[in-house]
Amino acid sequence: MQAQIALLPGDGIGVDVTREGRKVLEAISKEYGHEFYFEELMIGGCAIDNEGDPLPSETLKACRRADAVLLGAVGGPKWDDPNAHVRPEQGLLRLRYGLGLFANLRPIKVYDALSEASPLRPEKLENVDLLIVRELMSGLYYGKPSKIETVDGEERATDTLTYSAREIKRVIQLAFRMAMQRRRKLTVVDKANVLQTSRLWRKVAVQVAKDFPEVSLEFQLVDSASMRVITSAASLDVLVTENMFGDILSDEASVLVGSLGMVPSAALGEGSLGLYEPVHGSAPDIAGKGLANPVGAILSAAMLLRYSLDLAKEAESIDVAVGEAINQGARTMDLGGELSTEAMGDEVCRRLTAIR
Ligand code: IPM
Ligand code: MG
Repeated sequence: MQAQIALLPGDGIGVDVTREGRKVLEAISKEYGHEFYFEELMIGGCAIDNEGDPLPSETLKACRRADAVLLGAVGGPKWDDPNAHVRPEQGLLRLRYGLGLFANLRPIKVYDALSEASPLRPEKLENVDLLIVRELMSGLYYGKPSKIETVDGEERATDTLTYSAREIKRVIQLAFRMAMQRRRKLTVVDKANVLQTSRLWRKVAVQVAKDFPEVSLEFQLVDSASMRVITSAASLDVLVTENMFGDILSDEASVLVGSLGMVPSAALGEGSLGLYEPVHGSAPDIAGKGLANPVGAILSAAMLLRYSLDLAKEAESIDVAVGEAINQGARTMDLGGELSTEAMGDEVCRRLTAIR
């Protein structure tokens, strides 16, 4: 098949890891006889520097034309001034919103061979295979008003947590569909003992559940759920939650895997266009030094094949190659090893074989 892929390296190690993601996609296209066309575009801090805008309109247009988007990371100390009018992260938030990507899948899959890389005891990691579904287009990230003002001579800041039933329904439906393809358990994580939005999440979830009688549905408060992610993650299958809780829980859950550098993500909407990015940030301290782990980006490329291009076997090939590389000892610095970013990408590429 032919496909257009928009490549948005962004800032910091985003550049290093997307290079490896692209390399693996190119290897797949050779192996299976596809034609992938890459168009590289700016987002984040580099786009602020060059265009004065973290999401230049050219980038958004190119992403809309593409079949899928592979992104690295955005941000860095250079753009961190709290008084700055534009921030790199706004580029990412506008892109997610502009493409209508309301659901973010963050799979937490544990590799036995990495159990030493995790600070948790090995028995806590057994049989962990969790999918976090994070709502991505609403909640505190987008709620209005969002402002700083001076009230009675004192500065006051406001962020707003708001959800409509429609925004909740679409992501919960998607989470149920994911659960149907897995172990058929769905945990809705919220703070329903305090927040109105959470009580609406519960109400909508109960309604949607009627269409998925085979899935067992449970609710858990976010404070105790965050503990469960560490103490008994194997008891979770699909976890669905609002934007901010999902952001926090997914970094927490990466501790199970051994490194944030290993975790991929897929942002999906109604159509097949998706945005794929590793969960980690731009790690400016190690950028350009060949120290970043590209596996999160490489596994994101696999998700791109699976969800946007409907190439399940090709995606599986990447997952298998990563698993073999890890089992056979390939390790970047974050995992206690010495492989460079590029060498880790090579370790995956040389294990890629077509599944027929
Ligand atoms: C993530 C990141 C982003 C988010 C930042 C960079 C805006 O932390 O993708 O998890 O909070 O969504
Ligand atoms: Mg985050």
